[in-house]
Amino acid sequence: MSKFVRTILITGGAGFIGSHVVRHFVKKYPDYHICNLDVLTYAGNLMNIKDIENNDNYTFIKADITDLEEMRTLFKQYNFDGVIHLAAESHVDRSITEPLSFVKTNVLGTAVLLQVAKETWGEDKQGKLFYHVSTDEVYGSLELEQGFFYETTPYDPKSPYSASKASSDHLVRAYNHTFKLPVVISNCSNNYGPYQFPEKLIPLFINNIIEKKALPVYGKGINVRDWLYVKDHAVAIDTIFHEGKDGETYNIGGHNEWTNIDLIRLLCRLMDEKLGREKGSSEALITFVKDRSGHDLRYAIDASKIDDELGWKPSIQFEEGLSKTIDWYLENQGWLQNVTSGEYQNYYKKQYS
Ligand code: NAD
Ligand code: DAU
Repeated sequence: MSKFVRTILITGGAGFIGSHVVRHFVKKYPDYHICNLDVLTYAGNLMNIKDIENNDNYTFIKADITDLEEMRTLFKQYNFDGVIHLAAESHVDRSITEPLSFVKTNVLGTAVLLQVAKETWGEDKQGKLFYHVSTDEVYGSLELEQGFFYETTPYDPKSPYSASKASSDHLVRAYNHTFKLPVVISNCSNNYGPYQFPEKLIPLFINNIIEKKALPVYGKGINVRDWLYVKDHAVAIDTIFHEGKDGETYNIGGHNEWTNIDLIRLLCRLMDEKLGREKGSSEALITFVKDRSGHDLRYAIDASKIDDELGWKPSIQFEEGLSKTIDWYLENQGWLQNVTSGEYQNYYKKQYS
């Protein structure tokens, strides 16, 4: 008889958002067994969750979600009754240079997990839930200063990344409709915060400013994104996991739209202050470069459903969150160096084998 009331599989828990979700669940629910399954691609870094790796209610499993037989074995072995699925290829630029790995991981990987959950849970669906963590990019792109993405907005993905996430959302809904698999989906805007891989805009630019390297702004920097502090996303996921309704979709956003160039200028100002550098020295690193191919102009989320129905709203204001994020990267330059040198990829071998 297990001492835990539930066994939850979290996929992609060595990545950026997944590590915050794993930490949140491990700490908040000591009576849940949290199993973090991650294959440790370049984006997987076990140092992101080093602080909880010895907790009693935490297990790390190195495995690939596209491996059907291994997923079958693991579902039988651990008897997962909830799945929070975050494992994915997540970087839009990489999806332009290597789209097939996005199809494999995001589409096939999600299909494998759905199929194995269906097979394992059979008719006994009481207390079971498959939660897919998805993106607002499935809705496509908005005009400047006009309109929002609602849960009812038709899908119109435009990059191989967003098309692969849209496909996986469709598969999740198909398993709900056809097989009555209990599911929820959330579509969230751009996250920022500690432990984000320095290929994404904010951590890349923080790292480049520290190293006095150029800041490559795509196109004219007029594209708009809605930014949410990652710990607010983890709380939203917890809320939806426990209170979301079967088959429903919830948009998650920060009510916080910025053009890239305005955000970058704010980041530059804060970095000058925090590094004690001359005013304007970070901005001088801005370099306008060739635009991202097919670059979505604007994302903006209407997150009123999750607020009205489940009582979640973001708690951290952007300037505060950005300031905390910069402080974290400045205080954890060892983490950044480990990532940029590739040293972080040796941690699994050192710790687990
Ligand atoms: P990330 O790239 O930081 O982490 C992805 C994790 O998945 C890594 O640890 C990687 O090792 C793991 N992984 C990849 N392929 C795998 C496989 N085949 N088997 C097992 N593990 C595998 O991603 P992130 O930014 O933390 O995003 C997490 C999820 O949230 C993704 O599904 C993404 O689409 C979604 N999302 C991200 C954002 C954002 O702003 N970053 C916003 C909305 C939604
Ligand atoms: O909206 C949610 C999505 O947000 C998530 O689903 C994705 O996983 C996540 O990567 C993110 O996608 P973006 O493409 O919006 O994030 P990124 O950090 O790559 O870029 C943010 C904006 O900054 C975008 O308009 C492109 C621009 N940019 C990005 C980089 C890396 C630059 O101008 N220069 C850069 O070097």
